[in-house]
Amino acid sequence: MRIDVLTLFPEMFTPVLGSSILKRAAEAKRVEYHLTDIRQYTTNKHGKVDDRPFGGGPGMVMNCQPLWDAVMATESEDTRQATRILLTPQGEPLTQKRAENLAQQERLLLIAGHYEGIDQRVIDRLEPLEISIGDYVLSGGELPAMVLIDSVVRLIPGVLGHDESAIHDSFSPGAERLLDHPHYTRPQEWDGRGVPDVLTSGDHAAVETWRREQREKLTQQRRPDLLE
Ligand code: ADE
Repeated sequence: MRIDVLTLFPEMFTPVLGSSILKRAAEAKRVEYHLTDIRQYTTNKHGKVDDRPFGGGPGMVMNCQPLWDAVMATESEDTRQATRILLTPQGEPLTQKRAENLAQQERLLLIAGHYEGIDQRVIDRLEPLEISIGDYVLSGGELPAMVLIDSVVRLIPGVLGHDESAIHDSFSPGAERLLDHPHYTRPQEWDGRGVPDVLTSGDHAAVETWRREQREKLTQQRRPDLLE
């Protein structure tokens, strides 16, 4: 998979794409990341990429021209058709199902908007999928783009090792819609606190029953909406 990211802040991505599983996936050639700095495409002689909103109001709106030209230039770097995605609080929610679907694509082009928004005309012309990572507002689409990349790349076959496999994750398709159970490891006593006896009993069936109960209880308490 090729992932293009268009942003005014490419430097935000370098540490994240260069760490942990996202780094390993690139090293293993399962994915390649390409960062495009939208500002490089502005024809404005002062390097401006935004302007005040028509109709008034606070904040700035990203201009059409730099973004359009950045998308066209980036897309022409490779013959693979890109699935265009705009990260915005107005988008459809990012779900595990959506991540599974995106993990099947051969190329994603993510647009991280900043400021108050993007001129609607360039959105209308690009027709991207619009995706939100949750009902809260961030200062820009960069962190959401990184969240989306992480959720997708770990699902590309061969990225996770056997022990890390995503198939049992809480929100995987086919998996039950239950939150995870608590986890414990050594030492068996820490700070005067033990671990639930069942986990050291060696009784695998009892462990499974306990974990199941914990998952149901936690889901009922914290996310009753998942049980509906
Ligand atoms: N940009 C700002 N906030 C966002 C959010 N919650 N999801 C996606 N993009 C955003």
